Amino acid sequence: EAGWRNVELGASDEKFQNLHEFIRKARALLNQNAWDYIVGGTETETTLRRNRMALDEIAFRPRVLRDVSTVDASVETFGRRLRLPVVLAPVGALEIFDPAGAASVARGAGRFGAAHMLSSVTEPGLEKTAEAAPDALRIFQLYVRGDDAFVEDYVSRAVANRYTAFCLTVDTAHYSRRERDIAKRYVRESRLRATGGDHQKALSWHTVKLIKDKFKLPLIIKGIATAEDAQIAVDHGVDWIYVSNHGGRQLDHGRGAMHVLPEIVQAVKGRARIMVDGGFCRGTDIVKAIASGADLVGIGRLQCWALAAAGEDGILRMLELLEDEVIRTLGLLGVTSFAELDPSYLHPATATN
Ligand code: FNR
Repeated sequence: EAGWRNVELGASDEKFQNLHEFIRKARALLNQNAWDYIVGGTETETTLRRNRMALDEIAFRPRVLRDVSTVDASVETFGRRLRLPVVLAPVGALEIFDPAGAASVARGAGRFGAAHMLSSVTEPGLEKTAEAAPDALRIFQLYVRGDDAFVEDYVSRAVANRYTAFCLTVDTAHYSRRERDIAKRYVRESRLRATGGDHQKALSWHTVKLIKDKFKLPLIIKGIATAEDAQIAVDHGVDWIYVSNHGGRQLDHGRGAMHVLPEIVQAVKGRARIMVDGGFCRGTDIVKAIASGADLVGIGRLQCWALAAAGEDGILRMLELLEDEVIRTLGLLGVTSFAELDPSYLHPATATN
């Protein structure tokens, strides 16, 4: 029975049997400000909607009559084996959802065997999150809010605290108009809106070069949305391209992330590895990204819902459910591992074809 499945569900929280239950629980627990902080995007929220539409506009081309008795959802990345090709994306102000903030997410990710990316604008900060989950695959993400010395200080601290890689977010040159917040005259009391915005506006490839010249830590650039910039990043020796539109929270009227991914894969030609996020909330979504040429998928809002609903255990349970969905999807596609996937398993789709 269920010999094709290599995960046993029910270990952590019997209450959550599908991913939607985290959303329902989080909605019930959070006040309107916290809820809008998670779900909101910029201005008309068109980029946000396009993330989901771009995923839904891909259909599968399943193959059948292949032995899929044993399906393995794990991947090799950063020299380690991850149970799923998933990174919990950097999210600011996680302390809104759980008193331990990012420490709970890092611990949940570590217990499961997924990667965690820590935002520079969330509690409990770089050192304490490292202490909380010493063995997790941890990546540090920085918003540049200071000069070169500010950047170097953060990279040095990431090295000292055994982060596996360093990520610069580059799609926030200007802070966007989050109209759900504006409409309520709501200003979060967090470091999100702290000083240093001028540094972010002035950010250029100089900082990328600075980090690559001085540090050996693998560098990720988050917020690449064109082949042109992917090419420049590769020319600078960047190790990972992170295709993202910030979950539709920065530039409005951008493309859905999954519509951007193919041109990046083509431009990079294997010279860097690729992460993607934006709208991912199901196992099928993850499978579509990897079949399209991504190496890792980032999970933003679903992480917030799971954390708000059930803390560290919620993160673990969310990852277990994603893994179960991924394994069933791979099996139904007729493959036994991510390595066997390629774009031939995908087909452009509208709502009806
Ligand atoms: C974010 N995102 C983000 N990105 C980043 O580089 N640093 C940050 O501090 C934050 N903060 C943040 C807060 C919240 C509440 C959300 C929802 C998002 C963007 C995040 O890393 C990721 O790119 C998107 O969330 C991915 O889209 P989905 O999964 O939310 O649809």
